[in-house]
Amino acid sequence: MNIDVQLGSRSYAIVVERGALASVGARLKSLGVGSRAALVSAAGILSAHGKTVTESLEKAGFTVTTLEVPDGEAAKTLGVAERCWNALLEAGLDRTSTVLALGGGAVGDVAGFVAATYMRGVNFVQLPTTVLAQVDASIGGKTAIDHPRAKNLIGAFHQPRLVLSDPATLLTLPPREFKSGLAEIVKHGIVLDAAYFDDVAASARALLDRDPATLERIIGGSCRLKARVIERDEQEADLRAVLNYGHTIGHALEAASGYERWTHGEAVSLGMVAEARLARQLRLADASTVERQERLLTAVGLPTRAEGIDVDGVLTAMRRDKKSRDGRVPFVLAPTIGAFKVVYDVPPADVRAALASLAG
Ligand SMILES: NC(=O)c1ccc[n+]([C@@H]2O[C@H](COP(=O)([O-])OP(=O)(O)OC[C@H]3O[C@@H](n4cnc5c(N)ncnc54)[C@H](O)[C@@H]3O)[C@@H](O)[C@H]2O)c1
Ligand SMILES: [Zn+2]
Repeated sequence: MNIDVQLGSRSYAIVVERGALASVGARLKSLGVGSRAALVSAAGILSAHGKTVTESLEKAGFTVTTLEVPDGEAAKTLGVAERCWNALLEAGLDRTSTVLALGGGAVGDVAGFVAATYMRGVNFVQLPTTVLAQVDASIGGKTAIDHPRAKNLIGAFHQPRLVLSDPATLLTLPPREFKSGLAEIVKHGIVLDAAYFDDVAASARALLDRDPATLERIIGGSCRLKARVIERDEQEADLRAVLNYGHTIGHALEAASGYERWTHGEAVSLGMVAEARLARQLRLADASTVERQERLLTAVGLPTRAEGIDVDGVLTAMRRDKKSRDGRVPFVLAPTIGAFKVVYDVPPADVRAALASLAG
Protein backbone atom coordinates (compact mmCIF):
# COMPACT_ATOMS: atom_id res chain seq x y z
CA MET A 1 0.00 0.00 0.00
CA ASN A 2 1.24 3.45 -0.97
CA ILE A 3 0.01 6.54 0.88
CA ASP A 4 0.97 10.05 -0.17
CA VAL A 5 1.27 12.66 2.54
CA GLN A 6 0.54 15.97 0.82
CA LEU A 7 2.44 18.78 2.51
CA GLY A 8 3.49 20.92 -0.44
CA SER A 9 7.28 20.95 -0.75
CA ARG A 10 7.50 18.62 2.28
CA SER A 11 5.28 15.89 0.75
CA TYR A 12 6.34 12.25 1.05
CA ALA A 13 5.21 8.69 0.54
CA ILE A 14 4.46 6.05 3.15
CA VAL A 15 4.91 2.54 1.77
CA VAL A 16 3.41 -0.33 3.77
CA GLU A 17 4.50 -3.55 2.16
CA ARG A 18 6.00 -6.90 3.03
CA GLY A 19 9.64 -6.78 1.94
CA ALA A 20 9.67 -2.95 1.77
CA LEU A 21 13.05 -2.69 3.57
CA ALA A 22 14.87 -4.26 0.65
CA SER A 23 13.63 -1.50 -1.66
CA VAL A 24 15.01 1.39 0.38
CA GLY A 25 18.12 1.96 -1.78
CA ALA A 26 16.26 2.29 -5.07
CA ARG A 27 13.49 4.40 -3.57
CA LEU A 28 15.92 6.78 -1.86
CA LYS A 29 17.98 7.12 -5.02
CA SER A 30 14.88 8.14 -6.97
CA LEU A 31 14.51 11.12 -4.58
CA GLY A 32 17.78 12.52 -5.93
CA VAL A 33 19.60 12.83 -2.60
CA GLY A 34 23.39 12.82 -2.09
CA SER A 35 25.36 9.58 -1.96
CA ARG A 36 26.15 9.50 1.77
CA ALA A 37 23.80 7.92 4.26
CA ALA A 38 23.82 7.11 7.97
CA LEU A 39 21.75 4.27 9.36
CA VAL A 40 20.73 4.84 13.00
CA SER A 41 19.50 1.81 14.92
CA ALA A 42 19.79 -0.27 18.10
CA ALA A 43 21.79 -3.51 18.39
CA GLY A 44 18.94 -6.04 18.32
CA ILE A 45 17.19 -4.46 15.38
CA LEU A 46 20.46 -4.03 13.51
CA SER A 47 21.30 -7.71 13.79
CA ALA A 48 17.84 -8.68 12.52
CA HIS A 49 17.36 -6.15 9.69
CA GLY A 50 20.50 -4.01 9.34
CA LYS A 51 22.02 -6.09 6.58
CA THR A 52 18.91 -5.92 4.37
CA VAL A 53 18.91 -2.12 4.59
CA THR A 54 22.66 -1.63 4.18
CA GLU A 55 22.85 -3.97 1.19
CA SER A 56 19.91 -2.29 -0.50
CA LEU A 57 21.50 1.13 0.00
CA GLU A 58 24.95 0.05 -1.17
CA LYS A 59 23.51 -1.65 -4.22
CA ALA A 60 21.94 1.69 -5.16
CA GLY A 61 25.32 3.41 -4.83
CA PHE A 62 25.14 4.87 -1.32
CA THR A 63 28.04 4.95 1.13
CA VAL A 64 26.58 3.86 4.45
CA THR A 65 27.74 4.61 7.99
CA THR A 66 26.01 2.70 10.76
CA LEU A 67 25.36 4.41 14.11
CA GLU A 68 24.33 2.18 16.95
CA VAL A 69 22.28 3.87 19.68
CA PRO A 70 21.10 2.43 23.02
CA ASP A 71 17.90 0.39 23.03
CA GLY A 72 14.53 2.02 23.76
CA GLU A 73 14.00 5.32 25.58
CA ALA A 74 17.69 5.45 26.62
CA ALA A 75 18.44 6.55 23.04
CA LYS A 76 16.55 9.82 23.45
CA THR A 77 19.21 11.90 25.22
CA LEU A 78 21.32 14.90 24.31
CA GLY A 79 24.44 12.76 24.81
CA VAL A 80 23.32 10.24 22.19
CA ALA A 81 22.33 13.04 19.79
CA GLU A 82 25.78 14.60 20.23
CA ARG A 83 27.52 11.28 19.52
CA CYS A 84 25.43 11.01 16.34
CA TRP A 85 26.32 14.57 15.20
CA ASN A 86 30.00 13.75 15.74
CA ALA A 87 29.73 10.51 13.78
CA LEU A 88 27.94 12.25 10.88
CA LEU A 89 30.72 14.85 10.70
CA GLU A 90 33.37 12.16 10.91
CA ALA A 91 31.75 10.27 8.03
CA GLY A 92 31.59 13.42 5.92
CA LEU A 93 27.80 13.72 5.66
CA ASP A 94 26.77 17.00 4.08
CA ARG A 95 23.51 18.86 3.48
CA THR A 96 22.49 16.49 0.68
CA SER A 97 23.03 13.37 2.83
CA THR A 98 20.38 11.19 4.47
CA VAL A 99 19.82 9.91 7.98
CA LEU A 100 17.76 6.71 8.19
CA ALA A 101 16.07 5.47 11.37
CA LEU A 102 15.60 1.71 11.64
CA GLY A 103 13.67 0.72 14.74
CA GLY A 104 10.86 1.68 17.09
CA GLY A 105 9.64 5.15 17.97
CA ALA A 106 12.63 5.81 20.23
CA VAL A 107 15.17 5.34 17.43
CA GLY A 108 12.91 7.34 15.08
CA ASP A 109 12.63 10.22 17.54
CA VAL A 110 16.36 10.61 18.23
CA ALA A 111 17.45 9.98 14.62
CA GLY A 112 14.81 12.46 13.45
CA PHE A 113 16.06 15.03 15.96
CA VAL A 114 19.61 14.54 14.71
CA ALA A 115 18.45 14.84 11.08
CA ALA A 116 16.47 18.00 11.94
CA THR A 117 19.44 19.72 13.57
CA TYR A 118 22.57 18.51 11.75
CA MET A 119 23.53 21.32 9.36
CA ARG A 120 20.07 22.83 10.03
CA GLY A 121 18.35 19.77 8.62
CA VAL A 122 19.22 16.90 6.27
CA ASN A 123 17.13 14.25 4.52
CA PHE A 124 15.44 11.81 6.84
CA VAL A 125 13.94 8.35 6.19
CA GLN A 126 11.86 6.33 8.63
CA LEU A 127 12.10 2.52 8.62
CA PRO A 128 9.79 1.74 11.56
CA THR A 129 9.86 -1.75 13.07
CA THR A 130 7.23 -1.63 15.85
CA VAL A 131 3.46 -1.36 15.46
CA LEU A 132 3.50 1.94 17.33
CA ALA A 133 6.22 3.35 15.10
CA GLN A 134 4.54 2.13 11.89
CA VAL A 135 1.09 3.57 12.60
CA ASP A 136 2.04 6.56 14.70
CA ALA A 137 5.59 7.74 15.50
CA SER A 138 7.04 7.53 11.96
CA ILE A 139 4.32 9.73 10.47
CA GLY A 140 3.95 13.44 11.02
CA GLY A 141 7.43 14.81 11.52
CA LYS A 142 7.57 15.14 15.28
CA THR A 143 11.10 14.44 16.54
CA ALA A 144 12.36 14.68 20.09
CA ILE A 145 14.76 13.79 22.84
CA ASP A 146 13.83 13.68 26.52
CA HIS A 147 14.69 16.24 29.19
CA PRO A 148 15.37 14.99 32.72
CA ARG A 149 12.17 16.79 33.74
CA ALA A 150 9.86 15.47 31.02
CA LYS A 151 9.71 13.21 27.98
CA ASN A 152 9.85 14.72 24.48
CA LEU A 153 10.48 18.22 25.80
CA ILE A 154 13.28 19.08 23.37
CA GLY A 155 12.55 18.61 19.69
CA ALA A 156 11.63 19.91 16.29
CA PHE A 157 9.19 19.28 13.47
CA HIS A 158 11.09 17.66 10.61
CA GLN A 159 9.17 15.64 8.03
CA PRO A 160 10.76 12.49 6.60
CA ARG A 161 11.36 12.20 2.85
CA LEU A 162 10.07 8.64 2.90
CA VAL A 163 8.54 6.13 5.31
CA LEU A 164 8.96 2.41 4.59
CA SER A 165 7.00 0.07 6.82
CA ASP A 166 7.62 -3.63 6.45
CA PRO A 167 4.95 -5.57 8.39
CA ALA A 168 7.22 -8.64 8.31
CA THR A 169 9.52 -6.94 10.83
CA LEU A 170 6.70 -7.13 13.40
CA LEU A 171 6.89 -10.92 13.65
CA THR A 172 9.78 -10.70 16.13
CA LEU A 173 8.15 -8.11 18.41
CA PRO A 174 7.49 -9.36 21.96
CA PRO A 175 3.70 -9.92 22.41
CA ARG A 176 3.31 -7.10 24.91
CA GLU A 177 4.99 -4.56 22.59
CA PHE A 178 2.93 -5.80 19.68
CA LYS A 179 -0.41 -5.48 21.50
CA SER A 180 0.53 -2.07 22.89
CA GLY A 181 0.83 -0.70 19.38
CA LEU A 182 -2.67 -1.89 18.58
CA ALA A 183 -4.01 0.74 21.01
CA GLU A 184 -3.13 3.50 18.49
CA ILE A 185 -4.86 1.52 15.73
CA VAL A 186 -8.05 1.23 17.81
CA LYS A 187 -7.74 4.95 18.62
CA HIS A 188 -7.67 5.89 14.93
CA GLY A 189 -10.84 3.88 14.35
CA ILE A 190 -12.70 5.35 17.31
CA VAL A 191 -12.16 9.03 16.57
CA LEU A 192 -11.64 9.04 12.81
CA ASP A 193 -13.36 6.24 10.92
CA ALA A 194 -16.23 3.92 11.87
CA ALA A 195 -15.72 1.58 8.88
CA TYR A 196 -12.06 1.17 9.81
CA PHE A 197 -13.08 0.49 13.43
CA ASP A 198 -15.40 -2.29 12.17
CA ASP A 199 -12.62 -3.74 10.02
CA VAL A 200 -10.26 -3.83 13.01
CA ALA A 201 -12.99 -5.47 15.13
CA ALA A 202 -13.65 -8.11 12.47
CA SER A 203 -9.89 -8.71 12.10
CA ALA A 204 -8.97 -8.82 15.80
CA ARG A 205 -8.06 -12.52 15.79
CA ALA A 206 -6.05 -12.33 12.55
CA LEU A 207 -4.26 -9.24 13.85
CA LEU A 208 -3.24 -10.98 17.07
CA ASP A 209 -2.08 -13.95 14.98
CA ARG A 210 -0.01 -11.40 12.98
CA ASP A 211 -1.45 -12.59 9.70
CA PRO A 212 0.72 -10.73 7.13
CA ALA A 213 -2.07 -9.63 4.78
CA THR A 214 -4.18 -8.40 7.70
CA LEU A 215 -1.23 -6.49 9.18
CA GLU A 216 -0.55 -4.81 5.86
CA ARG A 217 -4.19 -3.75 5.39
CA ILE A 218 -4.80 -2.56 8.95
CA ILE A 219 -1.45 -0.78 9.34
CA GLY A 220 -1.88 0.84 5.93
CA GLY A 221 -5.38 1.98 6.94
CA SER A 222 -4.07 3.54 10.12
CA CYS A 223 -1.25 5.33 8.27
CA ARG A 224 -3.78 6.77 5.83
CA LEU A 225 -5.94 8.09 8.67
CA LYS A 226 -3.01 9.70 10.48
CA ALA A 227 -1.70 11.14 7.19
CA ARG A 228 -5.05 12.85 6.51
CA VAL A 229 -4.89 14.52 9.94
CA ILE A 230 -1.28 15.68 9.45
CA GLU A 231 -2.12 17.13 6.03
CA ARG A 232 -4.77 19.35 7.58
CA ASP A 233 -2.79 20.32 10.70
CA GLU A 234 0.93 19.77 10.32
CA GLN A 235 2.06 21.48 13.52
CA GLU A 236 -0.70 20.55 15.95
CA ALA A 237 -2.69 23.76 15.93
CA ASP A 238 -6.07 22.11 16.52
CA LEU A 239 -7.19 19.09 14.48
CA ARG A 240 -4.04 17.12 15.27
CA ALA A 241 -5.18 17.10 18.91
CA VAL A 242 -7.68 14.40 17.86
CA LEU A 243 -4.73 11.99 17.97
CA ASN A 244 -4.57 12.56 21.72
CA TYR A 245 -7.73 10.53 22.30
CA GLY A 246 -7.11 8.32 25.33
CA HIS A 247 -3.81 10.10 25.93
CA THR A 248 -4.87 12.81 28.38
CA ILE A 249 -5.73 10.19 30.97
CA GLY A 250 -3.29 7.63 29.51
CA HIS A 251 -0.26 9.91 29.91
CA ALA A 252 -1.33 10.78 33.46
CA LEU A 253 -1.65 7.08 34.34
CA GLU A 254 1.84 6.48 32.96
CA ALA A 255 3.37 9.43 34.81
CA ALA A 256 1.60 8.70 38.11
CA SER A 257 2.88 5.11 38.06
CA GLY A 258 6.45 6.13 37.25
CA TYR A 259 6.24 4.61 33.73
CA GLU A 260 6.54 1.15 35.29
CA ARG A 261 3.15 -0.48 35.59
CA TRP A 262 1.83 -0.17 32.03
CA THR A 263 3.30 0.20 28.58
CA HIS A 264 2.25 3.34 26.71
CA GLY A 265 -0.36 1.39 24.72
CA GLU A 266 -1.81 -0.24 27.82
CA ALA A 267 -2.12 3.16 29.52
CA VAL A 268 -3.75 4.59 26.38
CA SER A 269 -6.19 1.67 26.35
CA LEU A 270 -7.18 2.49 29.94
CA GLY A 271 -7.28 6.18 29.01
CA MET A 272 -9.69 5.47 26.15
CA VAL A 273 -11.95 3.44 28.45
CA ALA A 274 -12.00 6.26 31.02
CA GLU A 275 -12.52 8.95 28.36
CA ALA A 276 -15.30 6.90 26.75
CA ARG A 277 -17.05 6.75 30.13
CA LEU A 278 -16.42 10.45 30.61
CA ALA A 279 -18.22 11.15 27.32
CA ARG A 280 -21.13 9.05 28.57
CA GLN A 281 -21.24 10.90 31.91
CA LEU A 282 -21.31 14.20 30.03
CA ARG A 283 -24.20 12.83 27.94
CA LEU A 284 -22.17 13.15 24.76
CA ALA A 285 -22.08 9.41 24.01
CA ASP A 286 -24.47 6.52 24.55
CA ALA A 287 -23.78 3.26 26.36
CA SER A 288 -23.24 1.21 23.21
CA THR A 289 -20.49 3.58 22.01
CA VAL A 290 -18.68 2.94 25.29
CA GLU A 291 -19.23 -0.82 25.17
CA ARG A 292 -18.01 -1.18 21.59
CA GLN A 293 -14.71 0.49 22.49
CA GLU A 294 -14.20 -1.69 25.56
CA ARG A 295 -15.10 -4.84 23.61
CA LEU A 296 -12.56 -4.14 20.87
CA LEU A 297 -9.79 -3.24 23.33
CA THR A 298 -10.42 -6.51 25.16
CA ALA A 299 -10.50 -8.43 21.87
CA VAL A 300 -7.02 -7.20 20.96
CA GLY A 301 -5.66 -8.10 24.39
CA LEU A 302 -5.48 -4.63 25.94
CA PRO A 303 -6.49 -3.81 29.54
CA THR A 304 -9.77 -2.09 30.40
CA ARG A 305 -9.46 -2.27 34.21
CA ALA A 306 -6.86 -0.79 36.55
CA GLU A 307 -7.14 -2.04 40.10
CA GLY A 308 -5.85 0.09 42.93
CA ILE A 309 -5.04 3.25 40.99
CA ASP A 310 -4.21 6.39 42.92
CA VAL A 311 -6.92 8.69 41.56
CA ASP A 312 -5.47 11.83 43.19
CA GLY A 313 -2.00 11.04 41.86
CA VAL A 314 -3.40 10.67 38.34
CA LEU A 315 -5.33 13.96 38.62
CA THR A 316 -2.15 15.74 39.78
CA ALA A 317 -0.21 14.28 36.85
CA MET A 318 -2.93 15.47 34.48
CA ARG A 319 -2.61 19.08 35.68
CA ARG A 320 1.12 18.90 34.85
CA ASP A 321 0.37 17.79 31.27
CA LYS A 322 2.24 19.74 28.56
CA LYS A 323 -1.12 20.46 26.94
CA SER A 324 -2.80 21.84 30.03
CA ARG A 325 -3.63 25.53 30.12
CA ASP A 326 -4.24 27.19 33.48
CA GLY A 327 -4.41 23.78 35.10
CA ARG A 328 -7.18 22.54 32.78
CA VAL A 329 -6.62 19.98 30.09
CA PRO A 330 -8.71 19.80 26.94
CA PHE A 331 -10.29 16.38 26.37
CA VAL A 332 -10.86 14.76 23.00
CA LEU A 333 -14.08 12.77 23.36
CA ALA A 334 -15.91 10.41 21.00
CA PRO A 335 -19.66 11.13 20.72
CA THR A 336 -20.01 8.09 18.42
CA ILE A 337 -17.56 5.69 16.79
CA GLY A 338 -15.81 7.57 13.98
CA ALA A 339 -16.32 11.07 15.39
CA PHE A 340 -14.71 13.37 17.96
CA LYS A 341 -15.32 16.56 19.88
CA VAL A 342 -12.81 18.61 21.88
CA VAL A 343 -14.21 19.59 25.28
CA TYR A 344 -12.39 22.25 27.29
CA ASP A 345 -14.39 22.53 30.47
CA VAL A 346 -14.78 19.05 31.83
CA PRO A 347 -15.81 19.23 35.50
CA PRO A 348 -13.03 17.70 37.66
CA ALA A 349 -15.63 15.60 39.51
CA ASP A 350 -16.50 13.83 36.25
CA VAL A 351 -12.84 13.10 35.52
CA ARG A 352 -12.49 11.71 39.04
CA ALA A 353 -15.56 9.50 38.58
CA ALA A 354 -14.31 8.17 35.23
CA LEU A 355 -10.93 7.34 36.79
CA ALA A 356 -12.50 5.69 39.81
CA SER A 357 -14.61 3.54 37.48
CA LEU A 358 -11.40 2.03 36.02
CA ALA A 359 -10.62 0.54 39.39
CA GLY A 360 -14.16 -0.80 39.95
N1 LIG B 1 7.31 11.28 17.07
C1 LIG B 1 6.07 10.91 17.31
O1 LIG B 1 5.12 11.41 16.71
C2 LIG B 1 5.83 9.85 18.34
C3 LIG B 1 4.56 9.31 18.48
C4 LIG B 1 4.37 8.30 19.42
C5 LIG B 1 5.44 7.85 20.18
N2 LIG B 1 6.66 8.39 20.02
C6 LIG B 1 7.83 7.89 20.80
O2 LIG B 1 8.05 6.55 20.43
C7 LIG B 1 8.70 5.88 21.51
C8 LIG B 1 8.04 4.52 21.71
O3 LIG B 1 8.17 3.77 20.53
P1 LIG B 1 8.04 2.17 20.53
O4 LIG B 1 6.81 1.78 21.23
O5 LIG B 1 8.27 1.74 19.15
O6 LIG B 1 9.19 1.74 21.52
P2 LIG B 1 10.78 1.55 21.33
O7 LIG B 1 11.30 2.31 20.20
O8 LIG B 1 11.35 1.79 22.67
O9 LIG B 1 10.86 -0.01 20.99
C9 LIG B 1 10.37 -0.94 21.92
C10 LIG B 1 11.30 -2.15 22.01
O10 LIG B 1 11.10 -3.00 20.87
C11 LIG B 1 12.36 -3.32 20.28
N3 LIG B 1 12.09 -3.57 18.86
C12 LIG B 1 11.90 -2.64 17.90
N4 LIG B 1 11.58 -3.25 16.75
C13 LIG B 1 11.60 -4.58 16.99
C14 LIG B 1 11.33 -5.73 16.21
N5 LIG B 1 10.92 -5.63 14.93
N6 LIG B 1 11.44 -6.95 16.77
C15 LIG B 1 11.79 -7.07 18.09
N7 LIG B 1 12.04 -6.02 18.89
C16 LIG B 1 11.93 -4.79 18.34
C17 LIG B 1 13.20 -2.13 20.58
O11 LIG B 1 14.55 -2.48 20.50
C18 LIG B 1 12.77 -1.80 22.01
O12 LIG B 1 13.41 -2.62 22.95
C19 LIG B 1 8.61 6.80 22.71
O13 LIG B 1 9.87 7.38 22.94
C20 LIG B 1 7.61 7.86 22.28
O14 LIG B 1 7.84 9.11 22.88
C21 LIG B 1 6.88 9.37 19.11
ZN1 LIG C 1 0.29 7.14 21.88
